[in-house]
Amino acid sequence: MKNFLTIDTLEKADIEALLTRIEFYDEKLQDKSWTGNALKGKNVLLMFFENSTRTSISFETAARKLGAELFSLNMQSSSTKKGESLLDTIWTMEAITKPDILIIRHSEYGAPDYIADRVDCAVVNAGDSWRAHPTQALLDAYTIKKHKGDIEGQTVTICGDISHSRVASSNIKLLTKLGAKVRVVAPPALMPQKFPAEGVETFTNMDEGVKDSDIIMTIRLQKERMEKSLIKSDSDYFNNYGLTMERLSLAKPDAVVLDPGPFIRNVQIADDVADHPEKSLILKQVANGVPTRMAVMERAVS
Ligand code: CP
Repeated sequence: MKNFLTIDTLEKADIEALLTRIEFYDEKLQDKSWTGNALKGKNVLLMFFENSTRTSISFETAARKLGAELFSLNMQSSSTKKGESLLDTIWTMEAITKPDILIIRHSEYGAPDYIADRVDCAVVNAGDSWRAHPTQALLDAYTIKKHKGDIEGQTVTICGDISHSRVASSNIKLLTKLGAKVRVVAPPALMPQKFPAEGVETFTNMDEGVKDSDIIMTIRLQKERMEKSLIKSDSDYFNNYGLTMERLSLAKPDAVVLDPGPFIRNVQIADDVADHPEKSLILKQVANGVPTRMAVMERAVS
């Protein structure tokens, strides 16, 4: 059993092996009726203590496609509302469902690692606080590789609320390991003091940061993690940091746009950029979440 908790413990060769398996499953999934058996006889338990659309549904889809038995807990109607502790809820679900893999999302920093030390199954981090979202970074890397052919040498510019973003943090680590040149663009109030990898270029001016980029990744304002408002207004933020077609034209002519979602139209990204048929890879990213999570869960039980 192998946990999948952060990007930190992955070597470049591990990431490349995962990218190869993601490609394998991506090709299989082109046939809508295809199903695999890598998780046949295995139980997968999903515990999402924080809201999710993309991550939860793609884990569910991936588990079903690989033949797993799937269990989940509806947090809104669960006894967590009566004050049960995180660990007691997890142990209760573990006793009932006997999982081989536990997929967990939680707002507390390090919750998946804390749980991984206390359960008898592989644990996969589906996002904790602003710390880590390793499967999102992996599917982003796969999306870049599939579109550009390679990641090494690409200039990837991550724009927005960097200081509260687990996606930015995991992407900075993973893309740096794979040899991309990583830039970040953020207002001073949303720019971290330090970064989880060497060589990250920082910009507080959006036009300067976007210039000559190969890939631009926009990141939502994570207002749920701000103790007080750190921007003047959404419209002021859009004027200074929103990705518009005009700003996108400063990037390389073949530049493409990613956003992990959920994205807020006309705050971090303009409608015509988000919906652009060639430039926007946003729905391709979402689709790539399924083969990515298939590869991660296969690894978890290997
Ligand atoms: N990107 C992402 O984690 O989206 P969800 O919150 O919808 O899962």
